[in-house]
Amino acid sequence: MASNRAWALGPIVALGAWIAWPAMGLDGGESPEHAVTERVAKLETVRPRLAEAMSLLGRQFGNLWFAIDKANWPLAEFYLQQCRDVLAHAVVIEPSRTLTSGSTLPLQGMAQKLDQGYFNDMRTAIAAKDRGDAGKAYRNSMKSCMSCHAMFDRPFLRLRIPEAPPTDVIEFEPPGGKMP
Ligand code: HEC
Repeated sequence: MASNRAWALGPIVALGAWIAWPAMGLDGGESPEHAVTERVAKLETVRPRLAEAMSLLGRQFGNLWFAIDKANWPLAEFYLQQCRDVLAHAVVIEPSRTLTSGSTLPLQGMAQKLDQGYFNDMRTAIAAKDRGDAGKAYRNSMKSCMSCHAMFDRPFLRLRIPEAPPTDVIEFEPPGGKMP
């Protein structure tokens, strides 16, 4: 048993040593704890921000509109999944936020509501190749995105349907013309 545990801890100890090593200096002057704290603080300054994940979500969500509009169902399914993945990642990047009112709210609740609500409706409509229902779920999703923006002190981040796909190197027209 004990040797099993030692086996499992091996990689963790190795990782800790790897994190601590460069900051310790050759003379070993700094404590490993101090070195880890310093490295974590440094990594914190280069970690992705919520705004970056949201910009990507905005792009993928804009692309999704054009895939639905062109009834390119495999592409629509792909972009919807991209949106779901980015939204899930966004709440890991920033699990909660302190509002100007002083209260701190988790992001997870609103994200989950959108994912399990209108995004799910869209998935069903895309699978059924129903352009009308997919469009309806898309517009409802926009409202859900904006209610989260409003809840987190960003009521001015209103969404609209873009005039052209945000990604210009992807062909939105389905192969062989419009799909049924
Ligand atoms: C769980 C809450 C939440 C949901 C759901 C959400 N957003 Fe956001 N979004 C935010 C917050 C908070 C910001 C502001 C980020 C900041 O202040 O750094 C933001 C910012 C943005 C921005 C601006 C990014 C920039 O810096 O230019 C875009 C674009 C965006 N969201 C798109 C969307 C879209 C599209 C959806 C729905 C498909 C969506 N968001 C759903 C919380 C949310």
